Amino acid sequence: MSGITFLKTEDLEQIISFYKEIIGMEEWVVQSGCTILKHGNMLLGFCQAPVSDIEVTLTFFYSDPKSVDSMHEILEDTADGPPSVNERYNIYNFFAVDPEGRTLEFQTFRHELPPYMDGEELLKGRRSVRHYLDITISQEVLDSVFDLCRYSPTSMNSQSYYFKVINHASTKSDLAAVRGTSSAPIDGAPLAVSICVDPKLTKRPMQDGCIAAYHFTLSAWLHGLGTCWIADMDRDSVKDMLGIDKDHHVATVTPLGYPADVPEIPERKPAEYFIKK
Ligand SMILES: Cc1cc2nc3c(=O)[nH]c(=O)nc-3n(C[C@H](O)[C@H](O)[C@H](O)COP(=O)(O)O)c2cc1C
Repeated sequence: MSGITFLKTEDLEQIISFYKEIIGMEEWVVQSGCTILKHGNMLLGFCQAPVSDIEVTLTFFYSDPKSVDSMHEILEDTADGPPSVNERYNIYNFFAVDPEGRTLEFQTFRHELPPYMDGEELLKGRRSVRHYLDITISQEVLDSVFDLCRYSPTSMNSQSYYFKVINHASTKSDLAAVRGTSSAPIDGAPLAVSICVDPKLTKRPMQDGCIAAYHFTLSAWLHGLGTCWIADMDRDSVKDMLGIDKDHHVATVTPLGYPADVPEIPERKPAEYFIKK
């Protein structure tokens, strides 16, 4: 099920350009006299009318505090002050107004959330995260992340992969040191997770492992958690450290935690580039 909130506006053109150009919403559906905008899973419709609806608070939320700070830089002129922690709701937020006087709130939650993203936001928004907040990941959230991983495809439905969760600080530090700056993000995260495959269960351990690992990164992101694929580690020493059988395949070890900052998307080539005629 999905939904849209519609609001009346006296100046459709001005309000659409504000929400697109300043807030960064995207056009979803354009109808005669009404335009529906999208911000993640939020659908907001504006319709031309003699009197504007302004008695609302529109809250935009982000996955990290840095994104709230960026919005504050853009909206400083109408903001009620710099972003701050609201202890009551355990959020980091500030308020501003739109050109017709509607209250806008920009925030990030400082606590765990159930999954909320739509597919497009999940696939486009996932980033490799290298800096993490010092927030414990609850067992409930971890269980939910791993539950979705069960839907990863595997060769002949072998379900040959498994996860090892690493929470010992010294083991994480050892893993982080394995490949210098490339593996360093593991040290700053509350957990690391190794995605492994038992080759006795499958003829395709590499494929099963990589797909399960990517499935894990998407499931984690859906729960607001960042990951970062760490490659080219000396797998034998990683197996030694983690007590993994010598003949098992380690697809990757990734840090896992709530992002302290989500990097800008690195440049992506246009879709045509990837389709060979
Ligand atoms: C096979 C593979 C190996 C990677 N190895 C590392 C790594 O060792 N360290 C690291 O910080 N990031 C690593 N990354 C993350 C990439 O740098 C990242 O995916 C790429 O820059 C695109 O950014 P995005 O994931 O935010 O879209 C790796 C990614 C893949 C798929």
